[in-house]
Amino acid sequence: MSIKAVIRDDLIYLARIEHDVFGTDAFGVYILHNYFDDNIFFIKLVLPENNSSEKIIGFSIVTKLAENAIRKNPLKKLNLSNTTAANIDNFLIIKKYWGKGYGKMMLNHIITKLSDLKYSRVLLEVNTHNVRGIKLYKSQGFRIIGKKKAYYQSGADAFVMMKDICYL
Ligand SMILES: CC(C)(COP(=O)(O)OP(=O)(O)OC[C@H]1O[C@@H](n2cnc3c(N)ncnc32)[C@H](O)[C@@H]1OP(=O)(O)O)[C@@H](O)C(=O)NCCC(=O)NCCS
Repeated sequence: MSIKAVIRDDLIYLARIEHDVFGTDAFGVYILHNYFDDNIFFIKLVLPENNSSEKIIGFSIVTKLAENAIRKNPLKKLNLSNTTAANIDNFLIIKKYWGKGYGKMMLNHIITKLSDLKYSRVLLEVNTHNVRGIKLYKSQGFRIIGKKKAYYQSGADAFVMMKDICYL
């Protein structure tokens, strides 16, 4: 298993697995292209295959938290404007590989990389019904700091979760 930077040729496949997991709430290939051009990092989790090729089993997009997001509730009250905050815009593992520790591995990789880059906080949105995702994030030190109503295309609400990052 290794974690690598996504290349542009991966995007069509990523849009497909994104659709399989998130359905109507999925980012399409156009949005993924935009993220490809503007991110802190855009990574894929790959497993080696027999014929020396690789299979992508998950990916994540991490961006700098936008100033306009910081000025809105529920982040307004946190006074984040003088901190370097990142946002996990997307995070998924293909269903077949759930429950094997890959999600935790990819999340820890992201936190370590953000710490190396001297980010002090990382935030994300997660569907309020996504028990598995919420459990993963809580187990890695994220806490729920607010809720965004009808955040998703489907009308579902999101929790906003945040973790403080330590760096030397
Ligand atoms: C959420 C997701 C990333 C978890 O990935 P994963 O590889 O299955 O997670 P892991 O195997 O590393 O497990 C990490 C933690 O998830 C939780 N978890 C694992 N299996 C679980 C289950 N069957 N039920 C509830 N929680 C579970 C546990 O807290 C686990 O930690 P533990 O093993 O110390 O108890 C994955 O299920 C996924 O991609 N889901 C769809 C997309 C998504 O929801 N993304 C996150 C929100 S944007």
